[in-house]
Amino acid sequence: MQDMIRNSIALLIAGAAALFAGPVQAQELGDASRGSALALHTCIACHGVRKGETSVNPLAPPFFAIAESRGMSAMALNVALLSPHRAMPNIMMEPNERADIIAYILSLKSK
Ligand code: HEC
Repeated sequence: MQDMIRNSIALLIAGAAALFAGPVQAQELGDASRGSALALHTCIACHGVRKGETSVNPLAPPFFAIAESRGMSAMALNVALLSPHRAMPNIMMEPNERADIIAYILSLKSK
C-alpha cells in the first residue's frame, strides 16, 4: 500500500514535470520553418517576409531589415510582438507560434 502511494506520487511528479518542460522548451527554441510558413500566411499582408523582399505596406519594415537592426534579439522581438503597435493590428499568437516567427526572423540575419 505504501509502495503504491509512493509510486503514484512519483508518476504524478514526472507527469507534471513533462507538462511544464514541453511549452517552456518550445518557447525558447522556435522552429524557423514553421515560423516562415506562419509569416507567409499572416504577416505578408504588410511585411516583406522573405530575405530581400520589400513590404506591401510601406510603413511596415521588411523582416530582414528588422533582423539586421542593431541589437536585435529574440528578447527584443518577443517584447515587440507582445506590445501594441500603432499601425499593426494586434495579431493573437500562441507563445509557440511567436517563438517560431522569432526564430524565422532571426534566421534572416546575415551575420
Ligand atoms: C496590417 C499590417 C500588418 C500586419 C498584418 C503585420 N504587421 Fe507587423 N508592423 C506593421 C507596421 C505598419 C509596423 C511598423 C509600425 C508599428 O510599429 O506599428 C509593424 C512593425 C512590426 C515589427 C517591429 C516592431 C518594432 O517595435 O520595431 C515587428 C517585429 C512586426 N511588425 C512583426 C509582425 C509579425 C510577426 C506579423 C505577423 C504575425 C506582423 N507583423 C503582421 C504592420 C503589420
